[in-house]
Order: sequence, then structure tokens, then C-alpha cells
Amino acid sequence: MRRKIFNLSVFSLVAVLAGSALSPLTALAQEDSTVQTQEDSTTPAQTPSLYDRLGGVYSIATVVDDFVERLLVNDVLNANPKIDAARDHVPKAGLKFRVTALICQLAGGPEVYHGRSMTDAHAHLGITEKEWDAMVADFVLSLNKFNVPEKEQGELFALVGPTKDQIVTK
Ligand code: HEM
Repeated sequence: MRRKIFNLSVFSLVAVLAGSALSPLTALAQEDSTVQTQEDSTTPAQTPSLYDRLGGVYSIATVVDDFVERLLVNDVLNANPKIDAARDHVPKAGLKFRVTALICQLAGGPEVYHGRSMTDAHAHLGITEKEWDAMVADFVLSLNKFNVPEKEQGELFALVGPTKDQIVTK
């Protein structure tokens, strides 16, 4: 099921990149481009947002679901008693929802993140550099599992990377 959702998005991504006429609207847009004015031809083509290239909220939620499941059984993270204790009082469905909303917002989607700041959400956990690296390794495994292209992975890291200063406190 998960795979199906992401395969759909990869299909859309490939279709968009290939410029194939998927719908009458796409065909219309292509037709219009043949009658460009001088001004139009100098306007750079708009790249779809990272959110759209990732396949939108369902695909992002699918990756986050896999990612959080990995974090929950990560021995490096669970060796930190504060992170381990959080497992007992933070429902994983809620955590997945909030992380999904945050990534959707950062990637340019319409979802709005209403959770705590990264500082407030992580200050009590005493997260180390080693734990951050373990989290990044799991993130890469999830992104690769769903065939997220290298370019989009790079853009995601550029968005998430700067949160390190707020999350790593030890
Ligand atoms: C080593 C890295 C990380 C660990 C161990 C970690 C762990 C946790 C834990 C245990 C919680 C629940 C805290 C609580 O409610 O008591 C949490 C919340 C959260 N984390 Fe992380 N996290 C890490 C990195 C990240 C990153 C990189 C992001 C996204 C950029 C992120 C986004 C969030 C969000 C959105 C919440 C929910 C905040 C809320 O409910 O208001 N975390 N994290």
C-alpha cells in the first residue's frame, strides 16, 4: 500500500519532468506556450515546489511513518534514557502527524505546523551529535526506500539541517 502511494508520486514526478500531457489542462498549457510573447519567453519556467515534487502530503506522510518507526527501534537513540522515556508518553501517531506537518510546511505545501518550536520540543532530551547522526542515517534509509531522488533529498536536508542547532544541546 505504502509503496503504491509513493510509486504514484514518482510516476507523477517523472511525468512532470518529461512534460507529458496527462490532462487536458496540461495540454492546454503546452499549447499556450507556443504563442509566447517576447516578455513570456524571458520569464523562467516555474519549478514545482519541493512539496509537489515529493508527491504531496500522502507521500511525505508515508516517508515520515517509515522514518519514525526506524527511530523508535534505534539503539543509539534508545540508549539515551530521556529519549527512551519519551516513547512512553508521546503517542507515535501524534509525532508522525506533527513531523509530517512540519516537513510539508517547510517544503512549500499548504499544511501548517502548529507544534512547538524545535528548541521547546527537544530541550529536555539532551540530544547529542552522535544521536543526531543516527537520526540522519535513518532518514536517509527511509528516503532511499521510497526512491526519493538525490536532488530532492539534498533540498530536504537543506531545510532540516539548520534545525540541528536547536535540537542538539549536548
Ligand atoms: C536526534 C534527533 C531527534 C530526536 C532524538 C528527536 C526526538 C523527539 C522526541 C522524543 C519528541 C517528543 C518530545 C516530547 O513531546 O516529549 C520529538 C518531538 C518532535 N520532533 Fe524530534 N527528534 C529529533 C530530531 C527532529 C528533527 C530533525 C525534526 C524535524 C525537523 C523533529 C521534529 C519534531 C517535531 C515536529 C516534534 C513534535 C513537537 C510537538 O509535539 O510540539 N525532530 N522529537
